[in-house]
Amino acid sequence: MRMRKKKNADARLASHEGLVLSQPESPIEGKAGRELYLEIGAGKGGFAIEMARRNENADYYAMERVRDCIVLAVEKADAEGRPANLRFIIDGADNLPAWFASGSVDRIYLNFSDPWHKKGYFKRRLTYRKYLSLYFTLLCDGGELCFKTDNAPLFDFSLEELASVDLTPYLVTRDLHASPYAEGNVMTEYERGFVAEGKPIHKLCVKKPAGYIPHYTEPKKAKAEAEEAL
Ligand SMILES: C[S@@+](CC[C@H](N)C(=O)[O-])C[C@H]1O[C@@H](n2cnc3c(N)ncnc32)[C@H](O)[C@@H]1O
Repeated sequence: MRMRKKKNADARLASHEGLVLSQPESPIEGKAGRELYLEIGAGKGGFAIEMARRNENADYYAMERVRDCIVLAVEKADAEGRPANLRFIIDGADNLPAWFASGSVDRIYLNFSDPWHKKGYFKRRLTYRKYLSLYFTLLCDGGELCFKTDNAPLFDFSLEELASVDLTPYLVTRDLHASPYAEGNVMTEYERGFVAEGKPIHKLCVKKPAGYIPHYTEPKKAKAEAEEAL
């Protein structure tokens, strides 16, 4: 997300003590009797705030790598009465293993992730198999990943990436708002814009099968270069 630099970002963040985490200490394991939800690429935080509010029995972590987005997110959260179960993390998805213990997460949300449509950039997509492997390491058995996008090519890519690591969604819709799954849907900032433009929203959800072990390994350089050239 491109965003104009926020003035006094450090001071503004500091005034929302306890809401923002910027350095992982020991990996978060989750608390007994409570679920752990994680959103990656939370943007301005509207979805996170509403989800935390609706799910009091879950601890909700919203990760976003753009600090200026987090400034807006925390200000919104506190202006609306901060849900006690919400934390924002300023970091990128590559660092997830430093933040969360394996098997600790019940749900992962990816909403309107950047499509990275330019040739050779597909490995940056948050549904690329490398990231799926990270997510399905963090998820507990039966835990699930949910993904929404307006971007049909990114959605197709994501289905292919899931198939490549032997995962099959239990929910797929290419028009969420005209489907029975619209009920209870929490809209994100981007989603509101796309819906206003009349764009259909695609959604998938996939559960981690019991005993599933992610099997992605980073391709060797030559193979990686061959893939980039495709
Ligand atoms: C298109 S915006 C969508 C924001 C929000 N989810 C929404 O639907 O309104 C994508 C967001 O993902 C964030 N993002 C992209 N790659 C990321 C990564 N590797 N780790 C964490 N956040 C990332 C971007 O900074 C941006 O804020």
